[in-house]
Amino acid sequence: MSDAREQGCTLWFTGLSGAGKSTLAEFLTPLLRELGKRVEVLDGDEVREYLSKGLTFSKEDRDTNVRRIGFVADLLARNGVVAITAAISPYRAIRDEVRARSSAPFIEVYVNAPLAVVEERDTKGLYKKARAGAIPNFTGVSDPYEPPLAPEVVCSTGVESIEESARRVLAYLESRGLAPVGAAAKVE
Ligand code: ADX
Repeated sequence: MSDAREQGCTLWFTGLSGAGKSTLAEFLTPLLRELGKRVEVLDGDEVREYLSKGLTFSKEDRDTNVRRIGFVADLLARNGVVAITAAISPYRAIRDEVRARSSAPFIEVYVNAPLAVVEERDTKGLYKKARAGAIPNFTGVSDPYEPPLAPEVVCSTGVESIEESARRVLAYLESRGLAPVGAAAKVE
C-alpha cells in the first residue's frame, strides 16, 4: 500500500449552519498540508456560488447540491486528495447514497453543536431572520436536520475547542492509515 501521504479520502462534514464546519475545515487544511497531504475544501456557501448556483433550499435542490459535492469530492479523493466538504447536508439518505458511491474512503464527521448554541451565536444573523419568518425552510428552525446514526467522527463543537475537534479528526485518519502516526499529537 502507498504511504499515508498519498492516499486520498472524503472528509464529509455535516451539521447545522453555524456549527463550525467551515471553520474546522479551514483549521485542518494547513495542518494536513504540513503532513504532506493535498487538500481541497468544498465549502457549502462557496459551492452555492459556483457549482450549485441557482439551487434553492428545497429538499430536492439540497439533494442535488449534496450529490454534486459528493461527485466532485470523490473525483478529488480518488486522486490522492483529502477532499473536505462543509455543507449542512441535512438528509441522511443522500449522505448514505454519496457514501455508497464513493470509490475512496468516506469519513463522515458530525459537527455537532446544539441548536440552542448555534442560534445563540448566530454568526450570520440568519437564525434571527428565520425565527422572524423571513427565511423559509431554515434548517433546524423550519426544516429538518437528520443527524448521522454512525458517523466515523463526532466533534462536539459546542463544548470542545477547535484543537480538540481537529485532534479527533486527525486521530481517526491515523487509525485508518490516512495520516502519519503522530499527526493528532502535533496539534497544540
Ligand atoms: S445544504 O442543505 O444544501 O447542504 P448548504 O450547506 O449548501 O446547505 O448551505 C447552507 C448555508 O446557506 C447556510 O450556512 C446559510 O448561510 C445559507 N442558507 C440560506 N438559506 C438557508 C436555509 N433555508 N436553510 C439553511 N441554510 C440556509
